[in-house]
Amino acid sequence: MNSPRKSDQLVLGIETSCDETAAAVVRNGRDIISSIIASQDQIHALFGGVVPEIASRKHTELLTMVVQRALDAGGVSWEDLAGIAVTNGPGLIGSLLVGVSAAKAYHAATGVPLVGVNHLQAHVAANFAAVCDKPLSAEHLPAVCLIASGGHSDLVRISHATDYELLGATRDDAAGEAFDKAARVLKLGYPGGPAVAAAAEAGSPEAFDFPRPKVGASLDFSFSGLKTALIRQVEQLQGDDDEAALDDHTVADLAASFQAAVVDTLVRNTMAAVAQVAAKHLAIAGGVAANQLLREKLEQKCARAGVMLHRPPPELCTDNAVMVAIGGHFLLAEREPDNLDLDVFSAMPR
Ligand code: KG4
Ligand code: ZN
Repeated sequence: MNSPRKSDQLVLGIETSCDETAAAVVRNGRDIISSIIASQDQIHALFGGVVPEIASRKHTELLTMVVQRALDAGGVSWEDLAGIAVTNGPGLIGSLLVGVSAAKAYHAATGVPLVGVNHLQAHVAANFAAVCDKPLSAEHLPAVCLIASGGHSDLVRISHATDYELLGATRDDAAGEAFDKAARVLKLGYPGGPAVAAAAEAGSPEAFDFPRPKVGASLDFSFSGLKTALIRQVEQLQGDDDEAALDDHTVADLAASFQAAVVDTLVRNTMAAVAQVAAKHLAIAGGVAANQLLREKLEQKCARAGVMLHRPPPELCTDNAVMVAIGGHFLLAEREPDNLDLDVFSAMPR
């Protein structure tokens, strides 16, 4: 972690859109001064997924402590800050309200400018962090970005740090949602993506022939058929006894084959998007971008296509507040800050 200098622009980021309570301080939209994440995974794992009411309550309990720790860890005080950036959507409304209400209170008490950040733009903004493998910067734009999270699978063309155009999106489940559902079917626990990836290590990606769904000639995704194919395969293996447990080896093969199908589908459409807009730069974002197989396959394809791949480290792909601070840094440079009217929104306005 770096320590701040006086001339630096420091932005505090706050993220509470789902089940991570996070705060971070970032210098000049690139350097991480501090980053604190209190994960609620263990609590929600008991229920097999995020329970919105519990998530909001936990954010309420944890947020002020997490913010204070982010400031203390960086040796930063309120008067050092140029902005307070907070995720205001999309996400769970109750969870978003906790972060936004706290950010408004900090803004009212300290006078530090407030800025609401779109969670998906924040995921994209993670690519500008100095710790990335080839950090993105203005001279690399326009670039294509694959945003693959629990709620979204989007392909976008980034023309400017805060501005992008949608090239393709999922028609049904998001990639992360597909991983989470697969983990439930295979009884691997929550969160599903890392659990499926871990189980897949002992399996063969060729053991089962799952589809690589295509939506006509578009860049859109559809993962619900793949999920159904996995369910059908499990039912077939179980035979007459739908409670029958599958052996570890079969579960590993199913996980590896499923992961390969999701990754192949993401890689195919992503490289098609890169070709379609003749991009020379590809960025990746969202929790699924932490997936090792996806990262490796994109690296191979980009090397062959002469495209530069920009990759945030896995901990900046899953939810964090560094990306919110970076997103806020860019917004504050180009528009008026928000005020106490700042609202939250649950879904992306399309
Ligand atoms: O971006 P994120 O942390 O939260 C949302 O904005 O949704 O993404 C969470 C999603 C979950 O569905 C999780 O299972 C998936 O990302 N995920 C992964 C991996 N790590 C997290 N999927 C595949 N492989 C991983 N290593
Ligand atoms: Zn996210």
